[in-house]
Amino acid sequence: MASRSMHCKVLNCICLLLTLVSVGSHLEAKVTKSVFGEMPDGTKVEIYTLEEGALKARVITYGARLVSLEVPDRSGKTADIVLGYDELKGYTTDPKSYFGAIVGRYGNRIAHATFSLDGKRYDLPANDGVNTLHGGTIGFDKRLWQAHEIPHGVELTLVSKDGDQGFPGTLTARVLYTLEARALRIEYSATTDKDTVLNLTNHSYFDLAGEGQGTILNHLVMIPADRYTPVDSGLIPTRELAPVAGTPLDFRKATAIGARIDDDNEQLKLGHGYDHNYVLNGKAGVLQEAARVLEPTSGRVLTVETTQPGVQFYSGNFLDGTLHGKHGHVYARRSGFCLETQHFPDSPNHPKFPSTELKPGQTYHNVTVFRFSTGS
Ligand code: GLA
Repeated sequence: MASRSMHCKVLNCICLLLTLVSVGSHLEAKVTKSVFGEMPDGTKVEIYTLEEGALKARVITYGARLVSLEVPDRSGKTADIVLGYDELKGYTTDPKSYFGAIVGRYGNRIAHATFSLDGKRYDLPANDGVNTLHGGTIGFDKRLWQAHEIPHGVELTLVSKDGDQGFPGTLTARVLYTLEARALRIEYSATTDKDTVLNLTNHSYFDLAGEGQGTILNHLVMIPADRYTPVDSGLIPTRELAPVAGTPLDFRKATAIGARIDDDNEQLKLGHGYDHNYVLNGKAGVLQEAARVLEPTSGRVLTVETTQPGVQFYSGNFLDGTLHGKHGHVYARRSGFCLETQHFPDSPNHPKFPSTELKPGQTYHNVTVFRFSTGS
């Protein structure tokens, strides 16, 4: 009898423990705020730390950037899987990487730094040869956003004035970063007071083995896209939606980034590797899988979901070993990859691409989720 009641007690204890563990993994993310650094004029840049279970994300108000993302591997060991810097100065002096930033108003390229809307021509700064990249010389990645804590995360707001970087309309952009159920969710919304164009995305560079651990060529990538937008030498879409079938751009089955990256293929030469927009097979506007990536040694798996029609798969070809990132790590060529969920590049000049126009009274709304698990 005594041994039976002991047995029951042990069983009860185990049940209680299991309940606590499962409740613990669904607890609301803890959010804390502190100061990350100071801008040259003395303005403070805040940093918000979001913690949920074993996941930890840190976001700063300069460029609304994700500056670290700690994720467990298959044995539960966490590592920071996004490239970046230890200090604000790294971000403010980096000329062209956009590490972790929200890029806008127009993520990706606008050809010849110009577009027409409602019959009027708008000229933008050319900051990528003759083209505009990621919203111009002083894009959203270089702005100080206003932030406050929300349940599970942080909300950041930026008001971009009429004519900012040449774009029409005063635009109010809101970005919510939240940690929920082993995922980092980024929710974008925006309104305008004049017709304008808009394409917001996040420009995080991932190395699922841990930032600074070498190249990302061993990562297995799957992108559910039958077509992509081929580019010219300025990385501007040619207008065509070309099939990926039979090309090294086909990632419909999980394939190592490095398996075909140096193949004799015109598009890979123009992109210096992968730097292409994939046309997602699913319906835009509905949260759908945009990519799945496995890093075989750590077992970390990243699943990207989005409401956007496209994703730019960029294999970090322009990293060149001159940037010294976190812990002094040298970021060599292809030491990080980006999956920038987005509308197609140069859409304002391509009437047949899904529209990037936003009118007064409408609300721009998109969601991207970076979900983490482990596998082999
Ligand atoms: C984007 C572009 C790349 C490169 C990076 C920033 O992803 O598509 O060509 O400019 O930004 O270096």
